[in-house]
Amino acid sequence: MDITIEQAAEDELKEKPDENNLGFGSIFTDHMLVMAYDDGHWQQPVIKKYQNFSLDPAAMALHYGQAIFEGLKAYRGKDDRIYLFRPQDNLRRMNKSAHRMCMPEINVDEVFAALQELLRLEKAWVPSVSGATLYIRPTMIATEAGLGVRPARQYLFFVILSPVGAYYPEGFNPVTIFVTEKYVRAVPGGVGNAKTAGNYAASIMAAVEAQKLGYTQVLWLDAIERKYVEEVGTMNIFFVIGDEVITPPLSGSILPGLTRDSVLRLTRDWGLNVVERRISIDEVFTAADNGTLREVFGTGTAAVISPVGALSYKGNVCQVNSGKTGELAQRLFDELQEIQYGLRPDPYNWVVKL
Ligand code: COI
Repeated sequence: MDITIEQAAEDELKEKPDENNLGFGSIFTDHMLVMAYDDGHWQQPVIKKYQNFSLDPAAMALHYGQAIFEGLKAYRGKDDRIYLFRPQDNLRRMNKSAHRMCMPEINVDEVFAALQELLRLEKAWVPSVSGATLYIRPTMIATEAGLGVRPARQYLFFVILSPVGAYYPEGFNPVTIFVTEKYVRAVPGGVGNAKTAGNYAASIMAAVEAQKLGYTQVLWLDAIERKYVEEVGTMNIFFVIGDEVITPPLSGSILPGLTRDSVLRLTRDWGLNVVERRISIDEVFTAADNGTLREVFGTGTAAVISPVGALSYKGNVCQVNSGKTGELAQRLFDELQEIQYGLRPDPYNWVVKL
């Protein structure tokens, strides 16, 4: 597969940001990868200057939401090499989302080769300061102009890059979570397990209301009984109750997180008692009352491992581990990061060195 590279002129390159104040997702690099789909085929990928798209106002993604995305990160190791964490798994998951949304699948190997080219070109944008990374956002949208509700025939796949710091303002410090009984994120048979834009649009109102009450994120319960824990706005969730590490199963309505999967793998290999099972919010609050709730933490690419310090549900607030980061969350954070930055052996072959 040929990749066309149209490099930006030297005087068009942006100034690099202060790596200690990156925030999340508001700074973009000099180049992007673009690949159009038409007539049943993906065209040749093009790497070009980061720029606006020209879209027909009737582009179907704008009306009916055929839009999917992924999130992964590039890490700068101590050896100055760039490391990627499970990148092909992200692209494979994108194909699952594409399938669910009646969008065309990509060729994982070819797209990964093009992504690596883009990253080689943008290597200088991968931050060096600890905790900062280059966030990679592969996206696909329906571009065909049309108001009929059906799968589009034209799409655009693109990858943009953003140097980022921690996703939450709290950094790795515990976040506070509001458990909503009023809204649901996804229903059985819906698109909850696809990484599609509409899932995030649907979550915003609950997040805004939670933030007004002083909480960082929303915890979603199942849509039928509003009883069982599903996931948090931008991450999967784990509980440590007694000696059991629990996370809700991939029931079809939650996102199959790669960090979730990596945490399951690590904790099982450490010999912990890890189970994927339904867990009701009442069980969590009962465990908090009787002193067996030891830890709660979220997992996600953007969020990494994010300890939860407090949960609010129906007017009751439970503190988790006195609002402090738990031992398991800390160990997972440290070990995952060390694997991601190429600082420790990677027995799982998760890491790709550029
Ligand atoms: C990620 O963790 O990469 C996500 O996609 C969550 C996000 C919407 C910031």
